[in-house]
Amino acid sequence: MNSVVSANNRVLSGMRPTGRLHLGHYHGVLKNWVEMQHEYDCFFFVADWHALTTHYEDPRIIEASVWDLVIDWLAAGVNPSTATMFFQSHVPEHAELHLLLSMMTPLGWLERVPSFKDQQEKLKERDLSTYGFLGYPLLQSADILIYRAGVVPVGEDQVAHVELTREIARRFNFLYGREPDFEEKAEAAVKKMGKKNAKLFRSLQNKYQEQGDKEALNVARELIVGQQNITIADRERLLGYVEGGGKVILPEPQSLLTKASKMPGLDGQKMSKSYNNTISLRDNLEEIDQKLRTMPTDPARVRRTDPGDPAKCPVWQLHEVYSSDKLQQQIIEGCQSAEIGCLDCKSHIIEAIHAELEPMRERVKIYEESPELVRNIINEGGEKARDEARRTLDEVTHVMGLDYK
Ligand code: TRP
Ligand code: SF4
Repeated sequence: MNSVVSANNRVLSGMRPTGRLHLGHYHGVLKNWVEMQHEYDCFFFVADWHALTTHYEDPRIIEASVWDLVIDWLAAGVNPSTATMFFQSHVPEHAELHLLLSMMTPLGWLERVPSFKDQQEKLKERDLSTYGFLGYPLLQSADILIYRAGVVPVGEDQVAHVELTREIARRFNFLYGREPDFEEKAEAAVKKMGKKNAKLFRSLQNKYQEQGDKEALNVARELIVGQQNITIADRERLLGYVEGGGKVILPEPQSLLTKASKMPGLDGQKMSKSYNNTISLRDNLEEIDQKLRTMPTDPARVRRTDPGDPAKCPVWQLHEVYSSDKLQQQIIEGCQSAEIGCLDCKSHIIEAIHAELEPMRERVKIYEESPELVRNIINEGGEKARDEARRTLDEVTHVMGLDYK
């Protein structure tokens, strides 16, 4: 396990509400969330303000998507008694931290984030030369830092945003983490750990600072985080002190790269709304059936008796996701010898996807029938998130000297 993960068990991730979720989201993101919720303190949120940066001209899609998004999360198995789920706009502290961070963020840092130019070029039909869109990754930094999250599960395209967040945190800590009496306070905090631990702390600190021993740094962090009788402020001082820096007010998050999900779409390309090749989490048996039946196969199999090659067939890629080794073997042989027809071959996939989605569709029904339940989950999650966010913001305003009353 990596050091920052063990030092900070908080996970944060968000999704933009811009339409229906499909199997690509499920295999690429949601399944991962569902697994993480048992191991980490998870915060999952609907990034409605982020959606506004690209959809400010037609915000209705946001309103139409926010509840469906949460219902899909719940249906996929995100558990409200384990994970905290909420709407970004229910926690205005995100916006307040975003504003404060914007004061110390060099313009060049934002202009250089790859998604800034990429998206502007990709979404040509939208005018994205706005202040809000430039600030997109900084708002994301605020989302992460306001919960002092240690881990951010993201796809490849978001890694640069987490990297920016780390730079922002470093800059913030550098600017505002240096209390005038930092050394004395840190030394006092070392003593509070007790003789034995203090001695261990100093030897680890030396090993790291003098020999660059990363393992010593990890052990020191674990030691600090494991202390029961020091204050949060002291813990932050010690985390900074062990590295030779100031107090860590905003910890640097790690991105946790989701294993590149190879969820293929109906045409063999990656499943994506923009390729129009998706199976929605809410598709019923007829819809799944219809989509699979019309899926292209190896073009060499014109007649039922023509042998085929799974390597040239998008249906095969679905077998790689869904079928056992044994069945895969049978498919390869049956296809190459023309013993099986494409419809037989597809029927296994139809069944597998149906089996995967059916329980989700049933849970969707339960939640759709009781919108109050979903509203309560979101309201409770929002309150919990706000408490956490408020705590960070109080400290941020304190170290910036803005808490005059
Ligand atoms: N930008 C992310 C996306 O498009 C959504 C998001 C917003 C996010 N804030 C976040 C993801 C914070 C992780 C952490 O997918
Ligand atoms: Fe594709 Fe299966 Fe038909 Fe072979 S039998 S071409 S793998 S659908």
